[in-house]
Amino acid sequence: MNASLKNRLKRTALLALIGLGIGALIAAIQILQETKQGTPSTVAGIAIGGPFNLTDQAGKTVTEKDFAGKTLLMYFGFTSCPAICPTELSKIVAVLKALGPDGDGITPVFVTVDPARDTVDVIKSYVAQFHPRLIGLTGTQEQIDVILKNYRIYAARVDTPEMSDYTMDHSSFIYFIGPDGALRGIYRAQDDAQIIAHDVEKFLKKLR
Ligand code: NI
Repeated sequence: MNASLKNRLKRTALLALIGLGIGALIAAIQILQETKQGTPSTVAGIAIGGPFNLTDQAGKTVTEKDFAGKTLLMYFGFTSCPAICPTELSKIVAVLKALGPDGDGITPVFVTVDPARDTVDVIKSYVAQFHPRLIGLTGTQEQIDVILKNYRIYAARVDTPEMSDYTMDHSSFIYFIGPDGALRGIYRAQDDAQIIAHDVEKFLKKLR
């Protein structure tokens, strides 16, 4: 077995473990319908969220306080991702569209896992391709490390000799976060926009 294959298997095993952890988390959320006010939201001993300090596509500082009282659809990825990230961001846009006027009350957020390449300018032109209200967040590697840890996102740089530049392995989940900062849903690649829109609609009805 060569070194690169070995590394790939290691990463696959690691991603599988993280996937299992998230699976258990989804189950826990389904059981625990009500979460107390405030962040981080604790679901069966698993905390998601917490303070962060990042920069948006306009160069403005954004912290968790800027999202207080907002309902979010949040995704972590990187702008040079060939397929998964654009697909998931397009899915968020499809959810907003499916929600009609209710979609205007949802804040879509993209956080980079690759701050070295995803500068403010790169993020700016990237998010503009998807939605006028999509907030793109970047920061220093240290700032990004904080939010990745608190939101339980796995991300790792991958170098392969056959590619001119590196790529990123990362977990791909759409987080649905309520105005109290509590995690209300986690969606994977196989969950389509209709499923997410249905959940969000149901949640918004309960808030009224
Ligand atoms: Ni990606």
